[in-house]
Amino acid sequence: MSTVETPEHTWQLEKFETIGRLAMGIAHDFNNLVGAIMGWSELGLAEVPPGSQSHRYYVQIYKQATRAANLTRQLLAYARRQALERRNVNLNDVIADARALMEKLVGEQVELKAILGPRLPVLHADVGQIEQALMNLCVNARDAMPGGGQLLLKTEITEIDEQYCQLYTYAKLGRFVLLSVSDTGSGMDAAILERVFEPFFTTKQIGHGTGLGLATVYGIVKQHGGFINAYSEVGQGTTFRLYFPAVQGKATEIEKVAEEPLRGGAETILVAEDHQGVREMATEVLSRLGYRVIAACDGEEAERRFTENHEQIDLILMDVFMPKLFGSEVYKRIREIRPTIPVIFTTGYTAESALPDSPPEDRTLQKPYTSRVLAQRLRRLLDGKQA
Ligand SMILES: Nc1ncnc2c1ncn2[C@@H]1O[C@H](COP(=O)(O)OP(=O)(O)OP(=O)(O)O)[C@@H](O)[C@H]1O
Ligand SMILES: [Mg+2]
Repeated sequence: MSTVETPEHTWQLEKFETIGRLAMGIAHDFNNLVGAIMGWSELGLAEVPPGSQSHRYYVQIYKQATRAANLTRQLLAYARRQALERRNVNLNDVIADARALMEKLVGEQVELKAILGPRLPVLHADVGQIEQALMNLCVNARDAMPGGGQLLLKTEITEIDEQYCQLYTYAKLGRFVLLSVSDTGSGMDAAILERVFEPFFTTKQIGHGTGLGLATVYGIVKQHGGFINAYSEVGQGTTFRLYFPAVQGKATEIEKVAEEPLRGGAETILVAEDHQGVREMATEVLSRLGYRVIAACDGEEAERRFTENHEQIDLILMDVFMPKLFGSEVYKRIREIRPTIPVIFTTGYTAESALPDSPPEDRTLQKPYTSRVLAQRLRRLLDGKQA
């Protein structure tokens, strides 16, 4: 049976770097544009009667914008530049929640089976990213089983010891939650297997595959501090094994965004955002919800506006990457005036040192965000402060 390990060849790393930089360049602007489109279409949706023609148009705009957002997300995930929204999760819950979608993806011809290990430790993970990895693996499995077959998802806890690490140099020491995804499809020969994690490597016809699916999965696992390998044999099917570091603690409840009713407030919010489309959208959304908004279009203006109004400002919504002064620097200066001022940092991607040293998880908001999520995060933080 052929095995392939996590690729770490030099050329591969160079490619990662190049595409990473490309993705960052695109993501910054693109995420902002898409975020603005999403926000404005949500505002439009709230204005028109459900069931009307206009309502359907807004729904379409919103849907397409969401798809565009997913595209950058894939690229960023591959480049390991995705700003992760991590929390403690049980992988079994993620699989259970994604099950219906996976079944739809693989179709009726494929039997989906899940063997979920008992007493699984939690992972510190971005649920959206784990779901993304699952979807990419499911689509590949489906394509490998055109005549139907079985797709098996298995979770278990595993201990990686030194012996194993010596044998497989890509492995890491410690306790891991192992997710195995096996199909009974066509399998791969050694030559293909060796290249599966390579970006843009595809054996599919033009228009049927971009070759980013597994590269993305690879990026996601890596960014979570894990590792991945693949086993396959022609005609015998394929197994991907994803190892995620296990952490201590309990699962934090998964937020059910759509269910909470939207609540506004009368507090004053400083919105520091250099992208005009996003700034105007956020200002509009928050004003509609009753908030008073003070807007700033770069880091220096954010600091100035804060200094002028610091007694009234209840919360700051701040882009991490802004001209003149980064959000982290503004934050440092602002904290000297008001050490406990609540801040939500918004960002589309990570770059070391851009964020103040590990802000609490509920203080970062991934771009592009919807107006619904924005409203909820704001309210939660404001209420928490009063409690
Ligand atoms: N489960 C599988 N069984 C057989 N071959 C697979 C399987 N998964 C991936 N492959 C092979 O690896 C290649 C790369 O997969 P990857 O998901 O990265 O890209 P893709 O599926 O071709 O395109 P994309 O996922 O971007 O639409 C595939 O083209 C296919 O040849
Ligand atoms: Mg694929």
